[in-house]
Amino acid sequence: MSFTTPTPAPARLNRSELAVPGSRIELFEKAAKSKADAIFLDLEDAVAPSDKEQARKNIIEAINDIDWGDKVLSVRINGLDTHYMYRDVVDVLEQAGDRLDLIMIPKVGTAADVYALDMMATQIETAKGRKKRIGFELIIETALGMQNIHEIAAGSPRNESLHFGVADYAASTKAMTTGIGGPNPHYGVLTDKDGDNPRDYHWGDMWHYAIARMVVAARANGLRPIDGPFGDFSDPDGYRAQAARAMVLGCEGKWAIHPSQITLANEVYSPSDAEVTKAKRILEAMAKAQSEGAGAVALDGRLIDIASIKQAEVMVRQAEAIAARDAG
Ligand code: COA
Ligand code: MG
Repeated sequence: MSFTTPTPAPARLNRSELAVPGSRIELFEKAAKSKADAIFLDLEDAVAPSDKEQARKNIIEAINDIDWGDKVLSVRINGLDTHYMYRDVVDVLEQAGDRLDLIMIPKVGTAADVYALDMMATQIETAKGRKKRIGFELIIETALGMQNIHEIAAGSPRNESLHFGVADYAASTKAMTTGIGGPNPHYGVLTDKDGDNPRDYHWGDMWHYAIARMVVAARANGLRPIDGPFGDFSDPDGYRAQAARAMVLGCEGKWAIHPSQITLANEVYSPSDAEVTKAKRILEAMAKAQSEGAGAVALDGRLIDIASIKQAEVMVRQAEAIAARDAG
């Protein structure tokens, strides 16, 4: 183990994160009553320029007036390249109460972007005597952001999570697709020629590198990696498959851009009873092995060792957090 240990961000369930446009107040109560672990009220791309000011007011009122239960509550501000951003931060942090947990910063490109927001948030919190420190969720959705992702992830002690914004990332990298997430028929592998036998074509995951890179940057800095939107909300199977791929790589949750995607994300990102039982058996077997002085043993015909303890603990801890949420 390195002498450097990442400090983990505050533990929060983040299986599903519902996007709610700040201009659609009729959705706020529905979002608050939903099963989403986290909600972000949007001031950015789901809000038209002519609605920005009103959306800000709506969001501040909603944070103060609506019962958000135990959900993680966030506001997505506009980007640093707009003239909306400073007032988003000033108005929301000056006028919204301590129920607000996080600010989501879109299109982060450099660590200096995070620094600038940290400076603003710190000044406002001090001036206004805010009791709770606001955390940051950062969307990695540009080539610049992906290039600088490690410095960005380490950019502020307020950082809690990195999110992969697939649509803007595709646009920024000039990827030839107009879909929001999911696979692409042109990204596949054709098996070699084999005489006259038919060749297979295997679809690949064009987002693999980006998500895997985000997971590394997040985990190396104690942050949660979260997969972003899947636009086709009439395709639950496609959503599940994308969510499962990201989960296997290490993500802790995925956005829901429609309420129907909340249950899907919660399902995919909750370990099954069978998985939790197996993880507990691994912990028991390793405890026994260690008491007998063994470092590696066999369980069900497979090797388990000290690393297995850490893998199993991740799963058991997640199951405990979910059980606590369901009981609450
Ligand atoms: N939060 C809470 N409730 C929502 C919701 C949301 N984001 N999106 C839809 N609903 C509600 C609808 O009001 C409707 O409620 P009802 O049954 O009481 O009438 C129900 O869920 C079904 O919605 P539906 O009619 O299928 O969707 P829609 O046509 O109203 O809206 C979208 C579809 C995609 C425009 C809408 O879901 C949306 O705006 N999503 C968020 C998009 C966003 O924020 N994008 C930015 C991040 S990528
Ligand atoms: Mg975006």
